[in-house]
Amino acid sequence: MSSTLGTSRPDQASYMLRAAAGDAGRAYKRRMLDLLDIRAGQTALDVGCGPGTDLPALAERVGDGGTVIGVDRDPDMLARARERTEDLHRVEIREGDAHALPVEPGTVDRAKVDRVLMHVAEPADVLAQLHRATRPGARIGLAEPDWDTLVVDAEDLGTSRAFTRFTTAEVVRNATIGRSLARLAERAGFRVETVLATTPVFRDFDAADHTLGLGRNMEKAIAAGHVDRDRGHRWFAGLSQGPFYASFTLVTVICSR
Ligand SMILES: C[S@@+](CC[C@H](N)C(=O)[O-])C[C@H]1O[C@@H](n2cnc3c(N)ncnc32)[C@H](O)[C@@H]1O
Repeated sequence: MSSTLGTSRPDQASYMLRAAAGDAGRAYKRRMLDLLDIRAGQTALDVGCGPGTDLPALAERVGDGGTVIGVDRDPDMLARARERTEDLHRVEIREGDAHALPVEPGTVDRAKVDRVLMHVAEPADVLAQLHRATRPGARIGLAEPDWDTLVVDAEDLGTSRAFTRFTTAEVVRNATIGRSLARLAERAGFRVETVLATTPVFRDFDAADHTLGLGRNMEKAIAAGHVDRDRGHRWFAGLSQGPFYASFTLVTVICSR
């Protein structure tokens, strides 16, 4: 058994693109875009656009007369987003923080924030920024996981539960924000139109290991004394031999201003 469980940091941008290209990724993203009801000529904002995953789809929907603004704080992500949209002249990529959006107040018709609020310091402040950036009548789409709902099938159920507890308590900053999205949106002054919960399922161990950090987060849990070393390594080795199942709940909220 190896002495560490995949602690190397994966290429985040490639991950996000790969995750979005899977069946579950495509389905919830398309659903959100459909519910946003984006019209030709509108200005659409993607907060935490990452490697530009959704910018081409937004550009297609706003058409030649519209504008798409992608904002992210990570220069590597921005470089990937620029590469991905270099032929799309209606897409503007801006470096900035979601807590201080580099967008003129009251200029945005449609906005989306997809798996970003779980990472930010103050989700309520980001939603206040969105309220400031959008016009009356604007639509906003939010999608975030609730990591308390992460289940990983293993003969050692106790270690799977310990892994989920560690992920929620120590790995992800706002790990349970999925369930709170509708409340936070209403408190920020938006009207909640639709709340959806979907359950992405992983049957492929490698994909799950990359996206859920099975190895690297288990290694952290062991180092922090949350899981016994041999037990954690046996759990991981068992998972890698398959058959594999893991899932979690992803909450999507569509609201209007
Ligand atoms: C999980 S990725 C999601 C990317 C994209 N929304 C997608 O669906 O593929 C999270 C992104 O949020 C960005 N991010 C996190 N905190 C941020 C902040 N405070 N301001 C701007 N971007 C932020 C990260 O740099 C990263 O690109």
